[in-house]
Amino acid sequence: MNVREKINQEMIPVHVAIIMDGNGRWARKRGIARTMGHEKGVDAVRETVEAATELGIKYLTLYAFSTENWNRPKYEIAALMKLLVRSVNKEKKTFQENNIRLTTIGDLSNLPSRSHRELHKAIEETSANTGLTLILALSYSSRWEIIEAARKIAQQTLSGTIKPDQINAELFSTFLTTSSIPDPELLIRTSGEFRVSNFLLWQIAYTELYFTPTLWPDFTREEFYQAILDYQGRERRFGFTSEQIESSKKKSTTKIG
Ligand code: FPP
Repeated sequence: MNVREKINQEMIPVHVAIIMDGNGRWARKRGIARTMGHEKGVDAVRETVEAATELGIKYLTLYAFSTENWNRPKYEIAALMKLLVRSVNKEKKTFQENNIRLTTIGDLSNLPSRSHRELHKAIEETSANTGLTLILALSYSSRWEIIEAARKIAQQTLSGTIKPDQINAELFSTFLTTSSIPDPELLIRTSGEFRVSNFLLWQIAYTELYFTPTLWPDFTREEFYQAILDYQGRERRFGFTSEQIESSKKKSTTKIG
C-alpha cells in the first residue's frame, strides 16, 4: 500500500501550515545561485498545493517571506518578489480551475507597489472560490502580528469599545490576521531545522509539528502525504489525559450511533 492509500480521509486536517526552508542550501549544494533554489521551490509549492487540494484540505498557509527576510541582500529580495508575482500570475488560471482562493497574511504595505497590486488582483479574482484557501504569509512575522493586535485592542479599550475584563483568548484571536481562519492542526518545516521562526506563534499553541531534513525544493507530494499520515497517528490531547480523550471519543460514537 502506498502512503496516499494509507491516509484516512475522515481525519484530514483542516489547516496545514508550512515553513518552506532550504532553498539556499539546495542551490549551494549544486553550486548555483540561491535564487535558483527559490525558482525550484516554486515547483514544490505547486506540487504541495495540488496534493492539498486533492486531499480536501481547506487551508494551506505557506511562509513565503518573513519580516526578517527584508534583511537579505537586495538582489535576493527583488528576485523573490518577482518570482512571487510571476508564479501567482502564472498559476491564476489553475487556481480558478481548481476552485482555489488566494489570500495573504502579513504587512503587504512593505511590498514593492507592483507586487502589491498584482497580488491584490489575484486575491480579488479568486475571492469567490470555495475550495482550498491558499494563504501566503508575506512580510509576516508573528510578533509583528501580535503587537498589531495588542495596539488595536489598546486603542479600542481607550475609546471604551472594549472593557479590560472582556479581553480573553477568543477576543484576542479576532484581532489577528488569521481571525477568519481556524488554527492549523499541522505545521511542517523542511530542511532539518527545529525552529518555528516567528511563524503563527499564537495559532500553533496546540498544533502538531512535523520536521523533515528534506530541503524545500526537493519536497514532494509523497512527503506531504507522509506528514499527513504522521499527523493522523498522533494523539491530540489539548491538555486533557489520554483516558479523557478516549472516553469523549466513545461518547461521541455512542451519540452518532
Ligand atoms: C527559505 O529558504 C525560503 C524562502 C525564504 C522563500 C520561499 C519562497 C518560495 C519557495 C517561492 C515562493 C513562491 C510562491 C508562489 C509561494 P532559504 O532561502 O532560507 O534557504 P536556506 O535556509 O537554505 O538559505
